[in-house]
Amino acid sequence: MSRPFPELKNDLFLRALRGEKVERPPVWMMRQAGRYLPQYMELRRKYSFFERVETPELACEITLQPIDELEPDAAILFSDILTIPQALGIDVELIPGRGPVLENRIESASDALKIEARDIPEKLRYVMDAMNLTRHELGGRVPLIGFAGAPWTLFCYMIQGEGSRDFHRAKAFLYQEPKAAAHLLDQLTDATIDYLNAQVAAGAQAVQLFDSWAGILSPEDLAEWAMPRLIRICQSIEEVPVILFAKGAWYALERMAYRSGADALGLDWTVSPEWAREKTGGNVTLQGNFDPSWLLAPVEEIEKRTHRMIDRFGVQRYVANLGHGILPHVPVDHARAFVNAVKSYPGGKG
Ligand code: CP3
Repeated sequence: MSRPFPELKNDLFLRALRGEKVERPPVWMMRQAGRYLPQYMELRRKYSFFERVETPELACEITLQPIDELEPDAAILFSDILTIPQALGIDVELIPGRGPVLENRIESASDALKIEARDIPEKLRYVMDAMNLTRHELGGRVPLIGFAGAPWTLFCYMIQGEGSRDFHRAKAFLYQEPKAAAHLLDQLTDATIDYLNAQVAAGAQAVQLFDSWAGILSPEDLAEWAMPRLIRICQSIEEVPVILFAKGAWYALERMAYRSGADALGLDWTVSPEWAREKTGGNVTLQGNFDPSWLLAPVEEIEKRTHRMIDRFGVQRYVANLGHGILPHVPVDHARAFVNAVKSYPGGKG
């Protein structure tokens, strides 16, 4: 663990997160290591999802695939947010075509009250090993991002037991068993803080917190159940910049900008750049928010729209990204067109 890390050659992403001056916005894509890449599909045929996640050499190889192929300005470790529920004793399987299935989901208050966040870095040692290996293998080409799911989003999966449109079981649990719900959310908060700090110690140079299901909560419920814990997590990561991506929670953007302590806020594609800038007041970096479906449009259209997006967000305090994960059917050339359009900005602006 004590080998020194290679010197970082491209710090555009870290500078943008810290609010320092940049020549052009940095770019990366959520889920950039994934099914649209033929080299990913090849490994997917040979190994199960959790074999790929739990084998540091495979996780490292998959993390580097989009870096070699597309040369974005940041790498994100290939892993999953559901490692934490696993470390807390919930079995997770990924069933192709169906998504994650958690067999022994939390069904009662007593199930929830039994959950205790303990020894997370030790239980998820394979993530730290993958992080460390990947930071070395990157050779300083670009910074490496670590990540975790936010407590509310993890709670959704642990109680629902699978993906869902509305996570009705999770919401019912909040309202029917508020004490047990608070216990579980607090344990997930502690686990996430330990997890992210361990990732930083292992080599992560920035971290992103994914609250993918924030948007199904009402503003009042988000303020009561999710925000205090997001704030606690953001403020417990001191060494590296924190990106908070609370998908669908546009109504809380202003509060997140002024109260969360995050260095950057991720945006989905339902908000306009001007509105987001106005709400966040310029003191936080914004990341996003190209509609992932637009990567299915012709390449010239992708270039034009990407340049237009940067025109509207501005070059400073901005990280170009998609508004959510890249879709599996996107042609690699279209993903490349997006990355290159950001890199060529403002040249070729039409
Ligand atoms: O961004 C990256 O390239 C890093 C890797 C990454 C994965 N999952 C790999 C993955 C990250 C950051 C995640 C986060 C994650 N995982 C989230 C939050 C982000 C979001 O998309 O909202 C969530 C909700 C999960 C849980 C999860 N994992 C789901 C719902 C699924 C199935 C849905 C799907 O896209 O198929 C996964 C599987 C998963 N995680 C895949 C990848 C590349 C697809 C696995 C495969 O079929 O090969």
